[in-house]
Amino acid sequence: MARATVERIAEHTGTEVTILGWLAAKRSSGKIHFLQVRDGTGTIQCVMVKSQVTPEEFEAADRCTQESSVAVTGTVREDARSPIGFEIDVKSFAVVSASEPYPISPKDHGTAFLMENRHLWLRSRRQHAILRVRASIVRAIRDYFDDRGFLLVDTPILTPAACEGTTTLFELDYFGEKAYLTQSGQLYNEATAAAFGKVYAFGPTFRAEKSKTRRHLMEFWMVEPEMSFCDLWQNMDVAEDFLSYVVARVLEERRFELATLERDTSALEKVVKPFPRIHYEEAVKILRANGSDIPDGDDFGGDDETILTKQFDRPIIVHHYPSAVKAFYMKRDAQDPTYCMSMDVLAPEGYGEVIGGGQREEDLAVLQAAIEGQGLPMEAFGWYLDLRRFGSVPHSGFGLGVERTVAWICGLPHIRETIPFPRMLEKITP
Ligand code: 4AD
Ligand code: MG
Repeated sequence: MARATVERIAEHTGTEVTILGWLAAKRSSGKIHFLQVRDGTGTIQCVMVKSQVTPEEFEAADRCTQESSVAVTGTVREDARSPIGFEIDVKSFAVVSASEPYPISPKDHGTAFLMENRHLWLRSRRQHAILRVRASIVRAIRDYFDDRGFLLVDTPILTPAACEGTTTLFELDYFGEKAYLTQSGQLYNEATAAAFGKVYAFGPTFRAEKSKTRRHLMEFWMVEPEMSFCDLWQNMDVAEDFLSYVVARVLEERRFELATLERDTSALEKVVKPFPRIHYEEAVKILRANGSDIPDGDDFGGDDETILTKQFDRPIIVHHYPSAVKAFYMKRDAQDPTYCMSMDVLAPEGYGEVIGGGQREEDLAVLQAAIEGQGLPMEAFGWYLDLRRFGSVPHSGFGLGVERTVAWICGLPHIRETIPFPRMLEKITP
């Protein structure tokens, strides 16, 4: 008989199928076992009536422990009471491998315990919902750029120089030379954008973030578009169009998962462009009016972003941060070079920065001065400076952090559940 998956069980209504999966839970009433079988694509209730199976099968189901792997064959029946609309009437049942006592029971466990058992925790309903939303976000990201003339380029993970400041570098030995795990593909993206016009890179990036927060990981995935002949304002147009597209796709594809997570989707429905665009100075005024004591010229901390984003019902774009708090490559504003042509997109509901980017400095001499000014090794940037020597153009781009986006769209209080195996401060197991 046909093997079926829970996700596509509707296609098999009235026919006999086999489901291969794990016993998530079980309830019995003497003559009937109600088996909750999870096959990875979903969970379905399989109803085993004593008179319909052999005594050995009924006994095997009775003894079957939580998370044992099982093979269940039976007829698919529509059932209005089922959360997925279907059940299976069991014809035969076999245990593939009996599970030892499973550490994660339906009762509540502390987060530390669940994180230690992350490899098993991934089997839970909630983790399934989150990681399915993540997969949809990733697909939406790829579709957005692939369908709009951006070429996918892969930038290196092993790099000889810093992109986002020297304090968060993971250092390693590269045949006797110092090398680092990449913090961002941007600098290489600027080279490929000069070669192909519009490009994007999408891969893991690394930051040795030495503080424990609910928004930082040591290893996270970033998508980075980079566009030649593009200024700061055009960059913002792309960022808001892109982010609204991603949210709309998740709303379209993952209603069931968002419901599982009890996500208030009305907040996500409001994510439509245009997003409010706020100059840094204006943002500081709003912050101070709402009780922040942020000093002049300071970068925003997580708490500032939370206060700021709670004033709006959709993402906002803060632009023109002080040059002093941003990376060396940011183009200075022509009118007032204390500010740079940077932009951050801050997600609502207190989530804060999900996108960072801006217009890049395209002038050779100004860029050299900035590298020197930040005490960075000029020799490491020779090839990067070449891009300003051979047909330099105004160009811009940004980076979106996938995990922060997942946390926001799913409405999670912490970033640790947004990636299968999070790398956190002093924690690398499992
Ligand atoms: O603002 P960031 O540092 O910008 C860059 O790296 C630019 N070079 C990108 C570009 O213009 N191509 O990082 C971009 C985004 C942040 O907005 C945030 O979403 C995410 O990456 N991010 C992190 N996510 C999780 N954990 C961390 N430690 C993160 N650091 C940055
Ligand atoms: Mg940033």
